[in-house]
Amino acid sequence: MVENGSKASRVRELAASIASRSRIKNPNSDTVRINGERLARVLATEIEKAFGSNPKIAILDFGAAAGRVSIPLANLLPRSRVTATDVDAEAVEFLQLTAPENLKSELNGFLPPLKLAAGTFDCVFAISVWSHFADTLSMKWLEEMKRITRPGALLLISTQGNTCLQHLQKTKPAWAKVTGEQYLKDRYLYRDYPGAAAEDANWPGITKESSWGITVMHPDYIKEKWGALFETLEVRERGTVGKQDLVIMRRPV
Ligand SMILES: C[S@@+](CC[C@H](N)C(=O)[O-])C[C@H]1O[C@@H](n2cnc3c(N)ncnc32)[C@H](O)[C@@H]1O
Repeated sequence: MVENGSKASRVRELAASIASRSRIKNPNSDTVRINGERLARVLATEIEKAFGSNPKIAILDFGAAAGRVSIPLANLLPRSRVTATDVDAEAVEFLQLTAPENLKSELNGFLPPLKLAAGTFDCVFAISVWSHFADTLSMKWLEEMKRITRPGALLLISTQGNTCLQHLQKTKPAWAKVTGEQYLKDRYLYRDYPGAAAEDANWPGITKESSWGITVMHPDYIKEKWGALFETLEVRERGTVGKQDLVIMRRPV
C-alpha cells in the first residue's frame, strides 16, 4: 500500500517535470493521449501489413519520451515486445512506472551505440526524432538502427518535409527567409535550437557532443541518402497524424 502510494507520487512528480519541457508532451494531457493513440494506430496498420495481424515481434520506439506512442502501440499489439529508449532519464523512469507488461524502457546516450544486441528488432519506429537530428548524427543513428535490426526489418520514421517547412516559414523567425526554391535546391535544411546542447535542465540528455534542432528534408534526399542503408519503400507526405511525413523502409535481407 505504502509502496503503491510512493509510486503514484513519484509518477505525479515525474509527469510535472516532464510536462515543463516543450519537446516532450505532457503525459497527462488528453490531446497528447488522443494523438498518441492515433499515431499508434497508423504504425500498427503498417506493422500488421508487414507482419500479419497481431504479430509476435520485437519493436523499438527510439526517442520514445514518456511513451505517448509506445504505450498505446504496446496495447494494440499485446503479443509483441516493445522496447522504448530515450536520452531523458525522467521520461524513461516515468515510462518504466506506467508501461504495460509488454513494454520496457531504457536510457541511452546522445550518441550511438545503444546497449542492445545486433539483430534484435523486427521493427523500429521513431516519431519526431530524425526531424531534429543534424545530418551527421542522423546518419550515425541510422547506421545503428541497421545494426540492431534483423534482415527484412520494418522502419517507420517521421520527418519534416514541405508541409512542415510552410508552417515553419510562418511561425519561426529562423525559417522565415527560407524559400521553397532553396528547399528544392538544397533538399536538406537544418537550424539549431538556440540553447540546445547546453546540457541544462531544459534539454536533459542532449549534450554538446552534437547538435539538436529542426531538420527539413526533401523526400528525394531521404531516398538517396537513407537509401544507401535501407530500401526506402515510401516517403508518405503527412503520413503521421500531424504535419510530418512518414518514411517507410525495410532493412535489406
Ligand atoms: C520531440 S520528442 C518526441 C517524443 C516521442 N517520440 C513522441 O512522439 O512523443 C523527441 C525525443 O527524442 C529524444 N532524443 C533526443 N536525442 C536522442 C537520442 N540521441 N537518442 C534517443 N532519444 C533522443 C528526446 O529526449 C525526446 O524525448
